[in-house]
Amino acid sequence: MPQRPNVLVTRPIMDEPTRVLKERCEVTIHENDFGIPRDELLTMVKGTDAVITMLTEEVDSEFLDAAGPQLKIVANHAVGFDNVDLAACTAAGVMASNTPDVLTETTADTAWALLMAAARRLGEGERFLRAKRQWIWGPLMMLGQDVHHKAIGIVGFGRIGQAIGRRARGFGMKVIYHDSVELPKDVTEPLGAERRDLDDLLTEADFISIHVNLTPQTRHLFGAEQFRRMKPTAILVNTSRGPVVDEAALVEALRAGEIFAAGLDVFENEPEVHPGLLELENAVVIPHLGSATVDTRNAMGMLAVENVFAALEGKPPPTLLNPEVLEGA
Ligand code: DGY
Repeated sequence: MPQRPNVLVTRPIMDEPTRVLKERCEVTIHENDFGIPRDELLTMVKGTDAVITMLTEEVDSEFLDAAGPQLKIVANHAVGFDNVDLAACTAAGVMASNTPDVLTETTADTAWALLMAAARRLGEGERFLRAKRQWIWGPLMMLGQDVHHKAIGIVGFGRIGQAIGRRARGFGMKVIYHDSVELPKDVTEPLGAERRDLDDLLTEADFISIHVNLTPQTRHLFGAEQFRRMKPTAILVNTSRGPVVDEAALVEALRAGEIFAAGLDVFENEPEVHPGLLELENAVVIPHLGSATVDTRNAMGMLAVENVFAALEGKPPPTLLNPEVLEGA
């Protein structure tokens, strides 16, 4: 490792990873809660040996050019890496890493909380009480949908999708999944999970939880046609990336009662939220909190730092995304 390499961290991260990083590196942390403006990012990245980025920063050839030839690694502080142009990183000889595994269960918990809140109208109930409306218990008041023993369709059956499957099993649910690959029996059998085409999953599932990466193929995977196929009692949960869902079409489907409700952690034009969603009682919306717990953010920070240290020592980072960059290195 070079003597005290320069590391830029684009947003404040947890204390422990910050302390560990500072023991061995000169660390600059951009302290603005609203993110780092692009021109400032391009200036600050110049001359750095490593950068810890967030999903809010676009890492492309402009970024890599601005950084200069000594940049070894871009360590994304997220499992998702749609903000990182991996081909550009590889072409520039820069390693890229993410923070998988450490946030799997926490993100699945968030998806499950959204699913429960949307099914049982919890946000609406809270708003109702806080508005100090007159009320008395009633047999027809705010009826929701049962979760237990229903069918859940999991779109993207990777780490987080499977963690949703485990939760669903605990609720006695039927688990069906859609994925580009057929998962091995040792994964599917304990969950009783059956594979479906997307169209079949849409018509069969009472709940649909999305866990795919954002790619050109998954952008707007859910739009007007998909909502029309779903049951009018169905509930959609998205904790992956906002652009997987056509938000305007979702607003229309929720408004028209084509589906019962949605629980959303992510938005198409984040941080903007479609104004229609904010008006609808059957949309539960939270500000991208999927992995937002003390323990998990600490673990994500530590993994990002581990990736940085490995790259600076000339070793393969534990969660390297572009191993091809090491070929011929
Ligand atoms: C991720 O890790 O990709 C999340 O969206 C941020 O927690």
